[in-house]
Amino acid sequence: MAKVHVSMTVNGEAVEGLTEPRTLLIHFIREQLLLTGAHIGCETSHCGACTLDMDGMSVKSCTLFAVQAQGAHITTIEGVASADGTLSALQEGFRMMHGLQCGFCTPGMILRAHRLLQETPDPTEAEIRFGISGNICRCTGYQNIVKAIQYAAAKINGVPFQEAAE
Ligand code: FES
Ligand code: FES
Repeated sequence: MAKVHVSMTVNGEAVEGLTEPRTLLIHFIREQLLLTGAHIGCETSHCGACTLDMDGMSVKSCTLFAVQAQGAHITTIEGVASADGTLSALQEGFRMMHGLQCGFCTPGMILRAHRLLQETPDPTEAEIRFGISGNICRCTGYQNIVKAIQYAAAKINGVPFQEAAE
């Protein structure tokens, strides 16, 4: 199949490549750009493991072709921490609140939570749970993921984090 040229900005860097029109964005990101933080779970838009941030939206990158990302600005989990390695508030929250076990869902969960906090900087617990409802975690039971996002929201908003009583 003839390949087409695609270019986009990923984690602040211009990237380009040749890809078949049928290639999914997640495969382009993992196999051509070698950014393997985004995971492939279901490949049918259900699990959210492949979630990336693209042009101000959370996208499931198994549901887009790479050619649909032509000219887009994309953030992957590799671009979330600062250049000096300082963790983002969300990464710190997941670490501090034990928001992961196997970690398979975590890159997608953090990218989704990133966009959620952009859209709703001080979310209620219900808003967090609804906001991550497209991302499945088979390990944690979600409670600590919610706490991790609450931790990050508090840090970003400059207020003390108060863990809700269970
Ligand atoms: Fe994309 Fe599951 S791998 S939603
Ligand atoms: Fe294992 Fe979420 S930590 S799937």
